[in-house]
Amino acid sequence: MKDGKLVAAQIGCGAFAREQNLPNMTALGGVEIRYCCDTDSAAAEKAASKFGGGRALADYRPALDDPELDFVAVATPHDMHKPIVLEAAKRGKHVFCEKPMAMTLEDCWEMIAAVRRAGIKFCVDLNRRMSPAMHALKARVLGQQREERHNPWRYIEKKRPPMAEELATNFLIRIQDESSSYRLQHIDPMHGGGQVLGETVHWLDLACWFFDTQRPVRLTGWGSSRLSHGINLEFSGGDAATIIFDVCGTFDYPKEMYEVTSRAALFKSLFFVENRYYGMPGVAVETFPLQYDSFADAVPGDGFEALMKKGELRHGDDAKANWGAMCVDKGHRAMIAGFMDAIRNGTPSPCDEMAGMRSLLLAQIAVKAIKTGHSMPVPVEDWEPVFV
Ligand SMILES: NC(=O)c1ccc[n+]([C@@H]2O[C@H](COP(=O)([O-])OP(=O)(O)OC[C@H]3O[C@@H](n4cnc5c(N)ncnc54)[C@H](O)[C@@H]3O)[C@@H](O)[C@H]2O)c1
Repeated sequence: MKDGKLVAAQIGCGAFAREQNLPNMTALGGVEIRYCCDTDSAAAEKAASKFGGGRALADYRPALDDPELDFVAVATPHDMHKPIVLEAAKRGKHVFCEKPMAMTLEDCWEMIAAVRRAGIKFCVDLNRRMSPAMHALKARVLGQQREERHNPWRYIEKKRPPMAEELATNFLIRIQDESSSYRLQHIDPMHGGGQVLGETVHWLDLACWFFDTQRPVRLTGWGSSRLSHGINLEFSGGDAATIIFDVCGTFDYPKEMYEVTSRAALFKSLFFVENRYYGMPGVAVETFPLQYDSFADAVPGDGFEALMKKGELRHGDDAKANWGAMCVDKGHRAMIAGFMDAIRNGTPSPCDEMAGMRSLLLAQIAVKAIKTGHSMPVPVEDWEPVFV
């Protein structure tokens, strides 16, 4: 800590750090980005000169020796998360770690032990759980479960008690993505681990956060663990989440659509920008501003229609130049803000080491389920391991 500011080192200054971590820390304030570290010196220098003018280092270890350093933000390839986290924890530095937490469950256990031994705050950036649209969606569903409300025209059969299936909540997560424009490193088995580990951990975590009073008990998977796949996750209270991740889509249309059905109502979140609620009287559409919006003047307003119009501008003639010009709010900034609050105030991490481990556990079970074609249990002893 220096002059009331947290002192940070960014380790890994690639695409994600430049698009999210570094601009978010800069925008939030209260943090000095003292080091930008990357084995690619040019990447480190570029980041340091653009975000705060700190020192560019090709080796991150000297940064860990700085007694004023409070935390590191790790955005390296997946296989490098563990060694960096272990070294940072050994020196008592808090860690903001990109997802997935690690490549194997055993690595996650080692990291949990190190984090606990050091007594540091640890946050895995499974950011969907911090998105304003997801918070609004969950609040509406819980509200309907507390006090069911129905449109006056709805016929309600009152002569029988509801059946168990009628009391269940189902959460559909539909991702349409475009693999032909990916960088293949995320599906390299050595450094990436495939899309289930690299990407679907986001939605496995989101489902667990959404149904947080229950634990997942059974998982069914289909498709390919490398690219397109589906997962059905059943929870102990009878609720379920279905994730459909499909790489044959297009960036011409937004990526993530969410739908919940519960207590005779439908709760729909369109791509983090608009939530619509059906089956309940008098619930207005909610819209959510973009995180980055270079087209705010050209297309005023928020919501789905505005997002599509802004998308047309971005994908127009100057598409490459406009690529980073707009981004829906998936909770990245709120996640790092929550992590910094946790350091300052001693509050819980917004996505701690257990949550990070659990998303990886489910990803590994999903890979097995996909490859064997069998439904798999989520063993309670793996979900709640005891570390002594
Ligand atoms: N939370 C999210 O929504 C989200 C989105 C995209 C990426 N990510 C995650 O961010 C991480 C980085 O992804 P990316 O797309 O920026 O990859 P990238 O390849 O663009 O950047 C990674 C950087 O790490 C550097 N690096 C590699 N080994 C290093 C080491 N030992 N020390 C320091 N630097 C090292 C590389 O030179 C590179 O510049 C991954 O874990 C990825 O899953 C998270």
